[in-house]
Amino acid sequence: MTAWGFLGLREGDEDDKEWFEARAKIKNTLEIMGPATAPEVMRASYEEWQATREDMIARCSTCHAESYARRELEKGDALLREADLAKAKIIDIANMQFEEGLIDDKTRFSIYREATAHRFSAYMGGFHNSANYAWDEGYLELVSGIVAERDHLIVTKKLSVIRSKMGQIMPIGITALAVALVSIFLVLWVLIRNRKISKRKAAESVQDSN
Ligand code: HEC
Repeated sequence: MTAWGFLGLREGDEDDKEWFEARAKIKNTLEIMGPATAPEVMRASYEEWQATREDMIARCSTCHAESYARRELEKGDALLREADLAKAKIIDIANMQFEEGLIDDKTRFSIYREATAHRFSAYMGGFHNSANYAWDEGYLELVSGIVAERDHLIVTKKLSVIRSKMGQIMPIGITALAVALVSIFLVLWVLIRNRKISKRKAAESVQDSN
């Protein structure tokens, strides 16, 4: 069992407020998706995490220098923190889109799932010293995810504003078109009627002169 556990989460520990809040959001999405309720996959407190971490360091130190083991694990912690903050941003944007009615529940779920997969890559790759997973499959993908979701939010929001404006303009447009058509029809009707009358009058005057 590693200190962070399979999910890379620990409860409590509010010293780093930004990270603490990000972890709460991540835990919430993991619970929506399922596995957060499995046993031993996360730590219940900072103290529990720290005790397991010290146990790990003791094992690493049978082969590596203790300082090396500590530094390597701290590197993983730092990357996990960054990945958590990035994932929390994606969660925020997905929730914003959902609350504004721009995406449905299913789409939000798949955004959560994708961000979760990339957070796992960053976190596992970080602790297993894989630059490919930590960076390409992990952190870079999370950052691209933030940009993509933010762009999607902006575009769909603009579209929804245009749609609601169109909805306001449409009835006025249709009424104006109807008035214009009726006016044209009336003008034509009057013109044709006048021509008929003048023709009839001309015919009558020819008859009279006869
Ligand atoms: C039984 C001895 C042993 C233990 C215990 C051990 N390691 Fe290692 N570790 C090695 C050996 C040997 C290598 C080099 C493997 C190689 O290069 O193929 C290595 C490689 C590494 C590397 C990769 C270094 C690099 O440049 O790619 C890291 C990081 C590392 N260990 C961290 C740890 C950490 C953290 C722990 C404890 C959680 C740990 N190791 C426990 C023996 C051990």
